[in-house]
Amino acid sequence: MSIARSTLSLLLCLPLVILSGCGTTSPATDNATTPTLTAQIAAKYEGDQLYQALGGQTGIAAIVETFLYRLADDDRVVRRFDPRQIDYVQKVLNEQVCMLSGGPCHYSGDSMVRVHKGMKITEAEYQAVVEDFSYALYRQDVPVPTQQQLLERMAQLHDGIVGL
Ligand code: HEM
Repeated sequence: MSIARSTLSLLLCLPLVILSGCGTTSPATDNATTPTLTAQIAAKYEGDQLYQALGGQTGIAAIVETFLYRLADDDRVVRRFDPRQIDYVQKVLNEQVCMLSGGPCHYSGDSMVRVHKGMKITEAEYQAVVEDFSYALYRQDVPVPTQQQLLERMAQLHDGIVGL
């Protein structure tokens, strides 16, 4: 795929992600006694075809794997991650993307707030991770409108990740 298409894809997706990452579901509701942020976001889009558009579990697994390789090469954020956690993170990220896209999965990971609390993740780090994920979507030939749909949902996790 050409650099031009990659650049276009990023240009189209990133402003959407940045915009929709603001003022979303309050992380205060993301605790053990209420539905997780992931489940709340999934519920808003119930019945749509995003999971199918991503290629189901096989397509999602390829996207997540490509993303994790990209992340491992990303000097902006790689130091944040523990290589011993990679298999676990891959498993729950597959579940999370599947659930967010309306697939037949249950996210078994911990709440976004609990996981990222105390890390003081910056906006720049968050955007770096979003770029790495966008790159994986492009590498896996996900059509741009489908990329945007998924990134819009992931952006709603922003307040459960950044600045905590
Ligand atoms: C859209 C953005 C993001 C999503 C969807 C996401 C999702 C997740 C998920 C599902 C987990 C595993 C949950 C569990 O432990 O049960 C996790 C763990 C973690 N996340 Fe994030 N995350 C995002 C952004 C970030 C950013 C920007 C950073 C830091 C730069 C970060 C750092 C971590 C770390 C350090 C862990 C613990 C695993 C480890 O130590 O390797 N995350 N994240």
